Amino acid sequence: MAPSIDSSARVLFVTPECAPMTKTGGLGDVSAALPEALRAAGMDVRTLLPGYEEVLGVMAHAQLRASVRVLGFDCRLLDAGAFIVVDCPELYARDGSPYQSRDGRDWDDNPVRFGVFCKLAALLATPDSPLAWRPDLVHCNDWPAALAPVYLHGERERAATVMTVHNLAFQGLCDPALVGPLEVPASYFTPDGLEFYGKLSFLKGGLVYADALTTVSPTYAREIQTPDFGSGLDGLLRRRRDVLTGILNGIDTQTWNPATDARIARRYDAGRLEAKAENKAALQRRLHLPVDEDLPLLGAVGRFTHQKGIDLLAAAADELVAMPAQIVVLGKGEPEHQRELAAVAARHPGRVAVAIGFNEDLAHAIEAGADVFLMPSRFEPCGLNQMYSQRYGTPPVARATGGLVDTVIDGVTGFLFESAESAALVAAVRRALAAYRDPARWTRIQRAAMARDFSWGEAARRYADLYRRLATVPQR
Ligand code: ADP
Ligand code: GLC
Repeated sequence: MAPSIDSSARVLFVTPECAPMTKTGGLGDVSAALPEALRAAGMDVRTLLPGYEEVLGVMAHAQLRASVRVLGFDCRLLDAGAFIVVDCPELYARDGSPYQSRDGRDWDDNPVRFGVFCKLAALLATPDSPLAWRPDLVHCNDWPAALAPVYLHGERERAATVMTVHNLAFQGLCDPALVGPLEVPASYFTPDGLEFYGKLSFLKGGLVYADALTTVSPTYAREIQTPDFGSGLDGLLRRRRDVLTGILNGIDTQTWNPATDARIARRYDAGRLEAKAENKAALQRRLHLPVDEDLPLLGAVGRFTHQKGIDLLAAAADELVAMPAQIVVLGKGEPEHQRELAAVAARHPGRVAVAIGFNEDLAHAIEAGADVFLMPSRFEPCGLNQMYSQRYGTPPVARATGGLVDTVIDGVTGFLFESAESAALVAAVRRALAAYRDPARWTRIQRAAMARDFSWGEAARRYADLYRRLATVPQR
């Protein structure tokens, strides 16, 4: 059912990535699906994106609407209907990801690249905008969008601002010498403003100056108010808790649907779970593992970072293999984690396969072909893979943190473990495999997982409510 919301509010959704054009993680998925869900409900939502090569490539039909000089850079605003693109090849059209060069190093000028992006977002939300379309609300996502509320603060006539934290660990910290070049009012560079221990913090700016703050699950909204998860910003978040809410992400239930997924070997649904076996065999063949229907297959997909507990998985691998089980892992990221996992694979030929890289097709094949999905995250603001895996009848074993707590029902649709230690992961996989060996129980768990509604409807309704509340409150 379409959420009933005020369709007259105009929203500018500001994000550094949007699938399928450009995606490094869940933010790309959310930036595609949430505006779409809001538009489907009748809202006027447009997404502002930097003009990376992969974005410009699919926006050939876009119309040039304005040329503006921002922080010393000549930018062109391209209008492609649902998207507004900031075209400035010198800043954005580069060979690499939105944030890094191909060799995995952050672009040196990221603060300026995203400073220009934020400044433009702010400009579009004031009477000085060169566009006829003006938003009532600017929705900023993560640090690359977080200076927009800073620039808008104090404007006489401006849109309301929402700052959404998808990951508090990435803050956009930079040299304080950039305060001037970024045209941030010098009076804002204080510990009550966007100074963070002597550095300029993009994210802190958004958290201080936005009218409302959200994050991507209720549990993470509570966690980030504690020193353990607050990355040094927990005090500020506690002070602003009255305007902070956790809204659980949804997933794109069309892209991630085992009944229609063209990327998997055989399509299936809760009534045809036996077809999963074909996906398992196809995955084993694809990753050069012996095809064995009876050996439980554990899958994992994700960025190789401390956050995702890749080291816990590597440390647990010998015991997991001995259960016995096969393991497949897809991802890329920190070289030390890649090395750790390569060593595990070398120790267990025929049992462990590690695919390094970003590969959407293989990610779908793992969701469909694995028996159990592993997510040993140290922290997880929301997490999408555990929702995909439940939808694919591949119960997750996940650490009880953030959005994993809010989306996995322990013993019913998956298995949760508390402590961020490999022994706890091993114990939870043991519980999962005990259930796996009881076919009637396993089928019940798979069906309960597949029956869950992770669609965007509820989240879209909650964002729309928030937008409506803000749009009616007089702005500072
Ligand atoms: P995060 O945003 O922290 O990386 P999420 O679970 O929210 O974690 O989202 C990750 C998204 O990125 C999922 O859609 C996942 O399938 C995808 N993904 C991550 N790494 C890879 C990879 N190496 N290949 C393909 N997809 C990946
Ligand atoms: C972040 C988080 C992840 C979340 C995603 C989308 O990258 O790490 O947990 O699902 O953003 O909100």
